[in-house]
Amino acid sequence: MPLPGRGQLCKNEEKRNLSLGGHVGFDSLPDQLVSKSVTQGFSFNILCVGETGIGKSTLMNTLFNTTFETEEASHYENAVRLRPRTYDLQESNVHLKLTIVDAVGFGDQINKDESYRPVVDYIDMQFENYLQEELKIRRSLFNYHDTRIHVCLYFITPTGHSLKSLDLVTMKKLDSKVNIIPIIAKADTISKSELHKFKIKIMSELVSNGVQIYQFPTDDEAVAEINSVMNAHLPFAVVGSTEEVKVGNKLVRARQYPWGVVQVENESHCDFVKLREMLIRVNMEDLREQTHTRHYELYRRCKLEEMGFKDTDPDSQPFSLQETYETKRKEFLGELQKKEEEMRQMFVNKVKETESELKEKERELHEKFEHLKRIHQEEKRKVEEKRRELEEEMNAFNRRKLAVETLQSQSLQATSQQPLKKDKDKKKSRASWW
Ligand code: GTP
Ligand code: MG
Repeated sequence: MPLPGRGQLCKNEEKRNLSLGGHVGFDSLPDQLVSKSVTQGFSFNILCVGETGIGKSTLMNTLFNTTFETEEASHYENAVRLRPRTYDLQESNVHLKLTIVDAVGFGDQINKDESYRPVVDYIDMQFENYLQEELKIRRSLFNYHDTRIHVCLYFITPTGHSLKSLDLVTMKKLDSKVNIIPIIAKADTISKSELHKFKIKIMSELVSNGVQIYQFPTDDEAVAEINSVMNAHLPFAVVGSTEEVKVGNKLVRARQYPWGVVQVENESHCDFVKLREMLIRVNMEDLREQTHTRHYELYRRCKLEEMGFKDTDPDSQPFSLQETYETKRKEFLGELQKKEEEMRQMFVNKVKETESELKEKERELHEKFEHLKRIHQEEKRKVEEKRRELEEEMNAFNRRKLAVETLQSQSLQATSQQPLKKDKDKKKSRASWW
């Protein structure tokens, strides 16, 4: 008999409100949680996607007020490659394991059709690693270094025109996998009125192409107001600099030009403060949560469905993991058998092919042999004939020789007895011989 599901039990449960007689202490739960989290530390992973030299490293240094390792990319990368770098940062007693992933060589190839792929593959690989850890029998998620990307800062070139198709394609491919925050880089290179129009253009292009960017959450009352105001400022137009310039009697981070100073943290100069506020100070936890509950969940669901797992069977009954495993195992074994049979058949066919080839060769050899044999016999017959002819000639010759010798001896005898008669006889005998 199937056990009642969790939902069924809850349905019959009656909840009653009781008051406590005095202080029990579970009101310290949030503090316990905070203390546990602080001990454990946090991880936060940022992916920077943008053209080479757009100001990614400078912005990261400006955001975290430190100097990360930087390595200038050349414009001659054959393909986009992802370069992760992890740092341990500490502020007060909070430890942050920060990973900054650079999409090196982005936008540098002549053919940019596949530029998004290494980025997508990298994000998927981090999800896959996490899923593999989750599926292990002995999991160690507690101290697992979570490398899933929590936010993608997409650096838009400040052209003042519109988004490039590379930007739209890449963001479209990424939007179901990661929280995208689009930012206009090097915003000091674009005038105030142009920037305003550029922002509107970018947002309308993103909407018309169905690109979902990260929206700062407005469901938590504490941050709803600021987040909804900030959502209206997207994409943030930022300026990065680690250079300190004296403005009045204060040292501020700024970019200095012959015609003036752009202060990074001055909100009337750029949106850097807004970005830092939203990314680090207000919504870092939401970005981590969204990554886990939305993007990773989607990856996990698709992956498990691909593997044949389902929540319910065709009769809407809960799907048993054991049954799924058995079905998959059978499918796998069936496929293995099929493959084995195919290979066996292939081997048999190959043997048959080779056998018939060999037979054909043997037949050809046999024919050749017969042909040679016939030629040989013919030649042998001719030689025999020639030999017979020669023998006959020899016999005839010998006969003639014998006759000549006989004649000679007879004539010799006659000459010695009757020289005159001899001549006569000789003539006679020659005539008869011929
Ligand atoms: P790669 O890692 O090589 O792809 O470059 P990057 O995107 O990390 O750019 P990086 O931060 O190295 O900056 C490249 C150049 O742009 C440097 O000369 C920076 O000083 C300059 N730069 C960075 N941020 C800004 C900015 O906001 N405005 C202007 N005008 N220049 C900037
Ligand atoms: Mg860089």
